[in-house]
Amino acid sequence: MKVYITRIIPSIGVDILKEAGIEVVEWAEKRDLTQEELIAHCKECDALLSVGSNKIDHHFLNESSHLKVIALLSVGYDRVDVAEATRLRIPIGNTPDVLSNATADIAFLLMLAASRKAFYMHKKILNGEWGFHDPTVDLGIEIYGKTLGIWGLGKIGLEMAKRCAGAYKMKVIYCNRHNNPHAEKEVNATKVSFDELLEQSDVLSIHTGLTDETRGRFNKDAFSKMKSSSIFVNTARGAIHNEEDLTEALKNGTIWGAGLDVTDPEPMHATNPLLNMPNVAVLPHIGSATKKARDAMAVIAAENIVAGLQGKQLPHIVNHELY
Ligand code: DGY
Repeated sequence: MKVYITRIIPSIGVDILKEAGIEVVEWAEKRDLTQEELIAHCKECDALLSVGSNKIDHHFLNESSHLKVIALLSVGYDRVDVAEATRLRIPIGNTPDVLSNATADIAFLLMLAASRKAFYMHKKILNGEWGFHDPTVDLGIEIYGKTLGIWGLGKIGLEMAKRCAGAYKMKVIYCNRHNNPHAEKEVNATKVSFDELLEQSDVLSIHTGLTDETRGRFNKDAFSKMKSSSIFVNTARGAIHNEEDLTEALKNGTIWGAGLDVTDPEPMHATNPLLNMPNVAVLPHIGSATKKARDAMAVIAAENIVAGLQGKQLPHIVNHELY
């Protein structure tokens, strides 16, 4: 059995595959594979471990319908046509839970960085502009005791809420399709409607997956309902916000600031105006980029591949309906 891996991944994952007797082929070039290249490589393999932005769409799946399993090195599976994979009976694995702390840390960091203009002030030092002290300029806002709104209160959202409620005594409100009684108990969270979330949040943090329902949901209309003192934080997927509308909302003071670990498109272009706004902090999609999280993700992805190639149920499966 042979698995194709679209990046060099932490060796702890490769070891699991090799110990299970699986031959490993890794794409080592520092560029994304084209879809046709990926299809060609997969023709020689029985499984795919997909890292990065590969489109596992209708075309790819039908060209690669012999694959016994596809494991993602991510919790998000928005690039996969899950319905088609299910129709073709290809199990799709992902890596939930193990990156929740790392990603929530980045959401918390971005919230604070935006609130105190931290990245912008750092840039001023680099530009030789740490000069005359003026006590009335470049002032931030304080987050302590404010209201945190979470859109999509799952595992990562709960970790963000715990940090904000614990360290900053923030009141937590959330908007989900279903109630999250565990979170309601743990951080005293209150479920509200989408409009209430927009209107009441001082910090609004996105922790939902990218779906047809969430795509572009943070647009001009949504930003116009938010407080002019609010901070928008997105560590989920860039396409959940409309970047033009967000830029406009920040420029004209509709909202106060933003912290983004995800952008649309990715990578963000170096000339993007958001990068020069004082109240904006942008990171290059590093939510899960800790040694601990990435090792754990590699282990789960490898275990998903091993299970799939052995004809067993994947430990972390996206298309549950297959079993
Ligand atoms: C995920 O796991 O979905 C993170 O965004 C990394 O891609």
